[in-house]
Amino acid sequence: MSQYKPEILFLKQEDVIKAGLLDMKMILEVTEKTFKMIGEGQVINPTKVFLGMPDNDNWTSYCMSMPAYLGGDIDVAGFKWAAESVFNATQPGMPYGVDIVTLSDPKTVYPKAIMDGTLITAMRTSAAAGVAAKYYASKSAKTACLVGAGVIGRTMVSAIMEAVPSIEQIYLCDLDVAKAEDIAQEYAGKYNVIPSSDTESAAKQADLIVTETTSRKPFLKAAWVKPNATVIQMAAYEIEDELLLKADKKGLDNWSQLTHLPGTLMNKLAAEGKITEDMFASLPQLAAGQKPGRESEDELCVCCTAGVGAVDIAVAHKIYTEACKKGIGQKLMLWDNPLWV
Ligand SMILES: NC(=O)c1ccc[n+]([C@@H]2O[C@H](COP(=O)([O-])OP(=O)(O)OC[C@H]3O[C@@H](n4cnc5c(N)ncnc54)[C@H](O)[C@@H]3O)[C@@H](O)[C@H]2O)c1
Repeated sequence: MSQYKPEILFLKQEDVIKAGLLDMKMILEVTEKTFKMIGEGQVINPTKVFLGMPDNDNWTSYCMSMPAYLGGDIDVAGFKWAAESVFNATQPGMPYGVDIVTLSDPKTVYPKAIMDGTLITAMRTSAAAGVAAKYYASKSAKTACLVGAGVIGRTMVSAIMEAVPSIEQIYLCDLDVAKAEDIAQEYAGKYNVIPSSDTESAAKQADLIVTETTSRKPFLKAAWVKPNATVIQMAAYEIEDELLLKADKKGLDNWSQLTHLPGTLMNKLAAEGKITEDMFASLPQLAAGQKPGRESEDELCVCCTAGVGAVDIAVAHKIYTEACKKGIGQKLMLWDNPLWV
């Protein structure tokens, strides 16, 4: 009998929360550290594999495999199975995004954990925007405009407030203003969140704009954006081409992940030869000190993200470690005795 046991810790969403996932300060630290590790070459993060259904070009639901290995003091492998469904968005009580994360021991490749990744996605996505905002926001930024009051919009409020302490007020815009009102209510007394259905006027006042919507066409017009603002696009289609093209500083999380999805802003601009990778600084390069973020108060900074699996794995590993310490979760065995070995 081997001393190695194929024991899996199963963490449902409630367990992941109990283990500390909603601590945005902690998630920001893990996210920035992961970007730094990527910049320093301690992470293997292959491009995600996209499976659109019923077909890749006309998907209404999709699943995406996002594997990564993190070395250093983390030393874990894993992947997120990230999924989104347009159908779910039309149903009450069903999340648009539904994700799971698995972690594996890199030596034995035995699985260590399976957990809900839905809220991990929300926390780490907003934390990635927080890291981008830390490097790109103007020192005098006071007003933020967040567009999209869904799952990511909710965590975006705390990520931006933690990452950019100079922000005094946040306009939270959504086509469905009731969703923004609910989130503003949740943060009442902690942060000054102003719900709005008028993205144009909120954007015109903003020093920092973050878009996190399900829009499939660009709505943020270059003419609405202050010349020295910071714009962070979290979904694939939200900003006008011109806004990215005219930015003094262009940032991204991962070039290949941003340009491989057909029809998206970066895919289109890359195919037209209007952007190339060397025009951008990546969040890993910023976190590792290899390229600068904002260098003057006059610059227009635009950063696009698609999500990097390594950050999910790093956050999931942190949650797994905390859950083990606190005795949270349910233990499962992959087998009692493996057959045919
Ligand atoms: N970059 C990343 O790492 C990453 C990770 C996860 C999700 N995302 C993307 O973030 C987006 C939001 O995801 P979610 O889970 O919060 O979705 P959600 O359905 O919970 O929320 C999206 C919100 O956007 C609003 N919206 C749509 N079009 C709008 C418009 N033109 N103006 C204002 N509001 C508009 C909707 O009313 C909805 O409230 C998705 O496009 C998703 O693909 C990005």
